[in-house]
Amino acid sequence: GIVILDFGSQYNQLIARRVREMGVYAEVVPFHEDVDKILAREPKGIILSGGPASVYAEGAPSLDIKLFQNNIPILGLCYGMQLITHLHGGKVARADKQEFGKAELELDDKNHILYKDIPNKTTVWMSHGDHVTEMAPDFKIIAHTDSSIAAIENNDKNIYAFQYHPEVTHSQHGFDMLKNFVFGIAKAEKNWSMENYIESTVKQIKERVGNKQVILGLSGGVDSSVAAALINKAIGRQLTCIFVDTGLLRKDEAKQVMEVYAKNFDMNIKCVNAEERFLTKLAGVTDPETKRKIIGKEFVEVFNEEAKKIEGAEFLAQGTIYPDVIESVSVKGPSVTIKSHHNVGGLPEDLKFELLEPLRELFKDEVRKVGRELGIPDYMVDRHPFPGPGLGIRILGEVTKEKADILREADAIFIEELRKADLYNKVSQAFVVLLPVKSVGVMGDERTYEYTAVLRSANTIDFMTATWSHLPYEFLEKVSNRILNEVKGINRLTYDISSKPPATIEWE
Ligand code: XMP
Repeated sequence: GIVILDFGSQYNQLIARRVREMGVYAEVVPFHEDVDKILAREPKGIILSGGPASVYAEGAPSLDIKLFQNNIPILGLCYGMQLITHLHGGKVARADKQEFGKAELELDDKNHILYKDIPNKTTVWMSHGDHVTEMAPDFKIIAHTDSSIAAIENNDKNIYAFQYHPEVTHSQHGFDMLKNFVFGIAKAEKNWSMENYIESTVKQIKERVGNKQVILGLSGGVDSSVAAALINKAIGRQLTCIFVDTGLLRKDEAKQVMEVYAKNFDMNIKCVNAEERFLTKLAGVTDPETKRKIIGKEFVEVFNEEAKKIEGAEFLAQGTIYPDVIESVSVKGPSVTIKSHHNVGGLPEDLKFELLEPLRELFKDEVRKVGRELGIPDYMVDRHPFPGPGLGIRILGEVTKEKADILREADAIFIEELRKADLYNKVSQAFVVLLPVKSVGVMGDERTYEYTAVLRSANTIDFMTATWSHLPYEFLEKVSNRILNEVKGINRLTYDISSKPPATIEWE
């Protein structure tokens, strides 16, 4: 496959996803990985990612020059191009005019393999402060923009580089240029598909597990569900899924999970009703982080108790996916904890299990493909993410059963209407929040004094930043009418128009 060396670019996972979309396996490895270990992977090609550093800065990420001596095709992107130039004796300097955003690329070598089927002029995405000012000996310019050398090559050494980012969609023919590298130069083979992945993973699971027992914490979310379906395909009833109903789940969630997975997939699922335990522990607690800790701790306890009842369980399966595994090169330094994330299915520390993580190599969109391939219905595979602490952090202030029931009804209406209006898949995450605020209203001739709820809908790519969804007024009106008329306990509804930052997606 293709190895992507990570120099700290926010786009490095995107490069890997683009290559995989071509049907070629790609993995992301930190730039300081030992060269021999990189070579041991027998990569067909190596891509050096961009990064925020300057090659002349003290401690700037660099490379063992040995990497260039194996005749493996190398493509440097942005910082990768500057580093290649620097290490081969050329010069890099701060540009007078920093290029940021769209730029027009003009080809100097129209017949170059990298530019097969690419027009002479095309738009590319630039994002750099430094650029190449003096070419390294034996390197040739193959494309430029108004203000920069945009692409270079050294055919004898099999080294190529772009100053721009072909991996982002703003680069009009970027995907084709990457393809030209992957197939035209690196001569990679197409053998990465989800059908193959399922087949080989099922085989591996069978071999590894033998006749032993496996347990898995099923949350109903995409990752744990797809992991369960895959393992179920391999070993059937040797897998026991533990589904904990915390009392903080969405409306009919337990019912739905049992219907889809226990019934249709004949999965072995133990559904534990722990509502009372959770609500008792949460009584009187209002601080968000304290609520998270209580819910996380209680979850592990319930899970442990159930796990101990399963005789001969030696494996603990988890829905860990590739972005959780990539050892990312941090360039921002230690970050403060905004929210301590707790995930349902988190590893119980005092249990001695072997881990089984069949999705470790997959990106989220690949996990969804596997899910579909295995026959999980779209409405389960395309679900928005749901936080581990569930409604516990969507009921602001103290959590009670009364409030959880009110919130469940309102949330179900919002989601149902989003689906009906074909909007559910156009937003990234939508839900209702219940505030500990009561206000005066009127119903018939009666005065009411009831809770205020908030509709929240966010659009985001990575959940690190987000904008609020511009839902149509007519749609909001419909949702408002339904919630205020149908849900007892809510007499006022608002729409959250905060972006992240400075707000966050959840309210706690
Ligand atoms: P925020 O609110 O930080 O949320 O903008 C970003 C994403 O993370 C989810 N989230 C959580 N997920 N445990 C989780 O498993 C948590 O404690 C938690 N808090 C936030 C949130 O739903 C959104 O998708």
